[in-house]
Amino acid sequence: MRTQIIKVDTNATDWDKQLDQAAEILRSGGLVAFPTETVYGLGANALDETAVEAIYRAKGRPSDNPLIVHIADTAAVKDLADNTPQTAQALMDTFWPGPLTLIMPRSSLVPDIVTAGLDTVAVRMPSHPIASALIKKAGVPVAAPSANSSGKPSPTLAKHVIEDLMGKVDVIIDGGNAEVGVESTVLDITVTPPVILRPGGVTLEQLQSVLGDVVGSPVPDTAEMPGTPKSPGMKYRHYSPKAMMLLVEGAPEQVAAEISKRAELYCREGTAVGILVTDETAALYEPSLYSCCKVLSLGSRKDPNTLASNLFRCLREFDEKGVEVIMAETTDVKGIGQAVMNRLIKAAGGNIIKL
Ligand code: TXA
Ligand code: MG
Repeated sequence: MRTQIIKVDTNATDWDKQLDQAAEILRSGGLVAFPTETVYGLGANALDETAVEAIYRAKGRPSDNPLIVHIADTAAVKDLADNTPQTAQALMDTFWPGPLTLIMPRSSLVPDIVTAGLDTVAVRMPSHPIASALIKKAGVPVAAPSANSSGKPSPTLAKHVIEDLMGKVDVIIDGGNAEVGVESTVLDITVTPPVILRPGGVTLEQLQSVLGDVVGSPVPDTAEMPGTPKSPGMKYRHYSPKAMMLLVEGAPEQVAAEISKRAELYCREGTAVGILVTDETAALYEPSLYSCCKVLSLGSRKDPNTLASNLFRCLREFDEKGVEVIMAETTDVKGIGQAVMNRLIKAAGGNIIKL
C-alpha cells in the first residue's frame, strides 16, 4: 500500500484545507494516522466494520482490545451511547475537548468490532486542532487507537508513526509533536463511583475536584503483575522498547549509585546501556558513564508534564541507538506522574528494584 504523508502547519492560512483529502479517505473506509494532544492516533470510520478491521490488522492488535471512538462535537455522544450516565455532562463540560475518555453504555449504532463485543463504548473528544478539524470534515465518528505497532511505545511524532505503519495505512498526517505525551485517562462512568481504568492526561486530582469520589488506578507493581518477571507474558509488555528495561526506585543518590554500578558492569562486557534520568538527578551520575552509556533526561521533576511529554520519544530514541538495556529512575506518582509511572512499569514488564 502507498502511504501518503501530509504535513500540516496550523499557523498557515487555510491550513484545514489540507485535511480535505484525508477526511474523504476516512469517510470512504481508509486509514488515516493523525496527531492528537496526547499521542498520534490511527483512525478509521467507526461505523464501518471493514475499515475498523483494517486498524487491527495494520497494528497487529489483538481483537479483544476495544477502541476509543473520537468525536468533534459533544452532540455525537447521544448517537454512540445509550442512557448516558449522570456524571457524563459535568465531565464533558470540564475536560472536553481534552485527554479524557469516558466509558458509557453503548448504542446499537456502534459495531461490535469497535467495542470488542463489550456492552460499553469508549468516547473521547480530542482538543488537537488537526484531530478536531479532521473528524469534523469526515463527518463520522473516528475509531482510533494509538498509531503504533501493537506493544511498542505510543507515537508522539509523525516519524514514530512512519517507523511503525509506513505501507500499512493510507495517510499519515504530520502535525508535529503530541504535547501531553501519554494517552488519555480512561474513566469508567457506568459504575458508582467512577473508576480510572487507565491513568492519563487528566489526573485523579482533577477528576476528584469534579466528581468527589473516584476510584484511582493502582500503580501496577511486580506483585500485581503475576507472571512477571518470572514468565513475562506478552499481555504485560506494553509501550515496550526493544531493550530489556529495569526501573530503580529509592532516594536519588542511592538510585544513581545503583544504576551507575550496574551500568559500569554492562559497559565492561560491551552491552549497550541507556540510562533515563531527570534534569535534577543528571549530575548525580559519574561523568565517565556519559561516555559509555546513552543518557537521556526525561525532563524536570519540578514540571512533571515534561516527564510525560518526553517519555515515549526517549524510549524510541534508545531503540534507535541500539541500546540493549535501559535503566530508569522512577518518578513521583502525584498528578500526571501516575500516568508516567504506569507507562514506565509496563514498559519494563514490571521489572523494578526497590532500594
Ligand atoms: O489518548 C488516547 O486515548 C489515544 C489517542 C489516539 O486518542 N488513544 C489510545 O487508544 O490510547 P488505545 O487503543 O491505544 O487505548 C485505548 C484504551 C485501551 O486500554 C482499551 O482497552 C480501552 O481504552 N478501552 C477502549 N474501549 C473500552 C471499553 N469499552 N471498556 C473499557 N476499556 C476500553
Ligand atoms: Mg495504545
